[in-house]
Amino acid sequence: MDKLVIEGGVPLNGEVAISGAKNAALPLLCASLLSAEPLTLTQVPQLNDVRTMEKLLTQMGVKRSSGVPGEVTLDAASIDWPLAPYELVKTMRASILALGPLVARCGEARVSLPGGCAIGLRPVDQHVKGLAAMGAEIDLENGYISARAKHLTGTQFVFDLVTVTGTENLMMAATLADGTTVLENAAREPEIVDLADCLNAMGARVAGAGSDRIVIEGVARLHGATHRIMPDRIETGTFLAAVAATGGDALLRGTRAGTLDAVVEKLREAGATIVTDGDTMRVSRTTPLTASGLRTTPFPGFPTDMQAQFMALATCAQGTSVITETIFENRMMHVQELVRLGASIEVEGNTAIVKGVTHLAGADVMATDLRASACLVIAGLIAQGKTTIGRIYHLDRGYEHIEQKLGALGARITRIN
Ligand code: EPZ
Repeated sequence: MDKLVIEGGVPLNGEVAISGAKNAALPLLCASLLSAEPLTLTQVPQLNDVRTMEKLLTQMGVKRSSGVPGEVTLDAASIDWPLAPYELVKTMRASILALGPLVARCGEARVSLPGGCAIGLRPVDQHVKGLAAMGAEIDLENGYISARAKHLTGTQFVFDLVTVTGTENLMMAATLADGTTVLENAAREPEIVDLADCLNAMGARVAGAGSDRIVIEGVARLHGATHRIMPDRIETGTFLAAVAATGGDALLRGTRAGTLDAVVEKLREAGATIVTDGDTMRVSRTTPLTASGLRTTPFPGFPTDMQAQFMALATCAQGTSVITETIFENRMMHVQELVRLGASIEVEGNTAIVKGVTHLAGADVMATDLRASACLVIAGLIAQGKTTIGRIYHLDRGYEHIEQKLGALGARITRIN
């Protein structure tokens, strides 16, 4: 099994290009199920989760073709098998995003219930409740969601809580429903706006994406389109935090300002200088890191997907940072690994109290989930001496060529197996 070995203590300098967003790519790939005409996506990140989603779609009968690197065309003219099997869903819970489009397009779907997850229980009750409100008949049996509807019907649906993929699933389903659907208390993440832009390019009528009230007027069918996937704001945030943590100076290319303001705000509070210019962001730090607490909330608040990376930075900040996780009930698994590197962190419930130390010291650590592994990479870059990170298959799910990109910024990082 692959591991990463990092010799820390080197400031990151230079330039890096940001990839397409994983959390935009996954629902966009599923949007191809909504039309009998081809959907072409560009800036598709080369990630394990993207490959899993493509496998899920092709086993349903979707034809996949790829011309230039980063470009994928999906042709769902015929969907022979509206099934998302447990074997695939257990490896990637985002497979649930096939449910809405399949019911809307094929009138039926059989999707494995995603099992448990390292960061929390993560039920999908809102996805199911919303589809039932649109008239789908739903059975949960033998670990599968079976949904049928001759035609979905537009309705007013209020989410009990803010859910990103729940909003995406119902928004996609509503594009082919009879009548108008209004989604209230919807998630506002930029990936939802990117999906709505693509759906509208396919002939859908989605309004209000990015706000907590989304209105979708159903249409009879959608046509083909070409859509460029937005830049990955979490990858952007991860690199901003890595450069700020090591005290470097770097230019990030292909970013999108306005999609991670809360992260930029917190990094500035911690002592980083961040200058945005068009689709570039320059980050540097010359003054000591200072403690800065945070609380994760849905967009536009501080994203839970940046909590762990920011905690790595806080381990060597002057003062105490109080970090509270409100989205997932078990997203502090990286804490004990940081303590192995010499960090001083106490956890009370979903709050971590991080007392800054003068330095971290390299050690063997283990990744437990995608963002925890990014946190350990940043901690390894800060630490004196050698850090070895195990189970980096978590990292490969969401970061494209991370050691090459960090290597280009001067990091001493190698992958061994
Ligand atoms: C999306 O997950 C992202 N994944 C996650 O990124 C991200 O952490 C999360 O949104 C929050 O921003 C993708 O977009 C593929 P939620 P999602 O539904 O949609 C509860 C990463 O690191 N909930 O917004 O699954 C749920 O348990 C990943 O890239 C219900 O109770 O998250 C959680 O506590 C990790 N019932 C909260 O809502 C439901 O039906 C928010 O979850 C749905 C969710």
